Amino acid sequence: MRGAGEPADRVLIVDFGSQYTQLIARRVREIGAYSEIFDWRGLDADALTRFSPHCIILSGGPESAAIDDSPHVPGCVFDCGAPVLGICYGMQAMAQQLGGRVEPSLRREFGHARVSVTRDNELLDSADDPDVWMSHGDRVIEPPPGFEAVAATADSPVAAIADSSRRRYGLQFHPEVTHTPGGQAILRRFIRDIAGCSLEWTPGAMVEVLLNDVRRRVGDDGEVILGLSGGVDSAVAAALIHRAIGNRLHCVFVDTGLLRLGEAEQVVETFSRGIGMDLVHVRAANDFFDALAGVSDPEEKRKIIGALFIERFEREAAKFPRVRWLAQGTIYPDVIESAGTASQTTRLIKSHHNVGGLPEKMRLDLLEPLSLLFKDEVRKVGRELGLSGEIVGRHPFPGPGLAVRVLGEVKREYVELLRRADRIFIEELRNEGLYDAVAQAFAVFLPVKSVSVMGDGREYSYVVVLRAVETDDFMTASRARLPEAFLDKVARRIVNEIVGVSRVCYDVTSKPPATIEWE
Ligand code: XMP
Repeated sequence: MRGAGEPADRVLIVDFGSQYTQLIARRVREIGAYSEIFDWRGLDADALTRFSPHCIILSGGPESAAIDDSPHVPGCVFDCGAPVLGICYGMQAMAQQLGGRVEPSLRREFGHARVSVTRDNELLDSADDPDVWMSHGDRVIEPPPGFEAVAATADSPVAAIADSSRRRYGLQFHPEVTHTPGGQAILRRFIRDIAGCSLEWTPGAMVEVLLNDVRRRVGDDGEVILGLSGGVDSAVAAALIHRAIGNRLHCVFVDTGLLRLGEAEQVVETFSRGIGMDLVHVRAANDFFDALAGVSDPEEKRKIIGALFIERFEREAAKFPRVRWLAQGTIYPDVIESAGTASQTTRLIKSHHNVGGLPEKMRLDLLEPLSLLFKDEVRKVGRELGLSGEIVGRHPFPGPGLAVRVLGEVKREYVELLRRADRIFIEELRNEGLYDAVAQAFAVFLPVKSVSVMGDGREYSYVVVLRAVETDDFMTASRARLPEAFLDKVARRIVNEIVGVSRVCYDVTSKPPATIEWE
């Protein structure tokens, strides 16, 4: 283990542009080793020495190693003596550079394959599940000097290579995807047994590293301001920074009136009364409803909410002239997606609810203590800091809040009806143990009336739509197949308990084409 406050043994991942690179980093951390992604172009001997990895993984990538000018493995990777594991393109590039032969395959191998271990080696175990996931055009025809082929599939006689003496390995298949059931065992063997990493990237260690980082950056007298949104990331960032520097953290919670039922009260209860933070509760619902009156275009609504949010936040922040830092709950996927992996300095600022646009105007330095964590790690850190399961396990919620779930013009009456319907849906999901089984679930309010028969009379009232989706990345999603009896119960409760809603629909559309939110 390194000194206190630094991540334990580290795994460096060289990114060649594979869609799975983030997944490799997540898998490695799940195993318990800290990992970071470096773009192959930005990795030089200095960066490598600074990061000081225990071992290195080369990602896959869309290019062909068989052509000139294709992305290459930086020389420092081989010079530093650390064990190397090349995956797919990473294996081919390594093989090519070290004197092996790589050629385009006659047939592209894509999808499931069965791999058999052809020679004993320390990376693969013949007892591993033989099913693997392939996605490649090139293949290694001849391993480089010092390497031998150690596994094969029907289409790839060289499906894995090993140079045990130099501790360098290559896999033609993808151990990081769930379609390779034995993949995690292979990665663990590489990281723990071959590279000798201690698996100390535990929630406790994460918290210690993050606390030290915040204290070091902010110093003994620095003050920080943070906009709490009620979401997981800002909540965990706030709890962490408060643990690090106490009431030199000032939180501003702009209550837009567009949060879910009871959420504003829960934020105040948890952070102000519970943790004892310095929390300013800005009750701004009237301003938001006034500003939204008569506006029905979704993007217009977003702009109005964003601008007003920033205005109210700035007004409060101005009351803390000693503050030099603006804290945000940015997480690793935001950093990778917005700035690429090449540089960790050019961070884009997350949209609206992390108060984007503020730092330039306010001349504050950004403090993003979670920027190297994945979502599941953020949740673990939150739990370790004592936040409730209800807060850290919460589904994502859009910055503009319920304004994008009331279609068209946002009226108080609509928001109230929506909140109550949403509460029933979420409450029932929790009761049935289904909340954690779906990635996101919520109700949508349609400002149209439909006819129903209630008791002896006809009613003419509003429609609520339930939306629940399954997704890993929120880029694509499919509707959750909730049990019919469950949907019946929710629908019955909504129309019985909420006067003004007489019809409940369930949205079965996938994304694409439909987005997860309705606006
Ligand atoms: P869509 O609707 O684009 O949503 O399929 C993908 C994810 O993003 C969330 N979302 C937003 N989050 N501000 C946010 O902070 C927004 O304006 C916004 N719009 C959508 C949505 O809830 C889902 O998790």
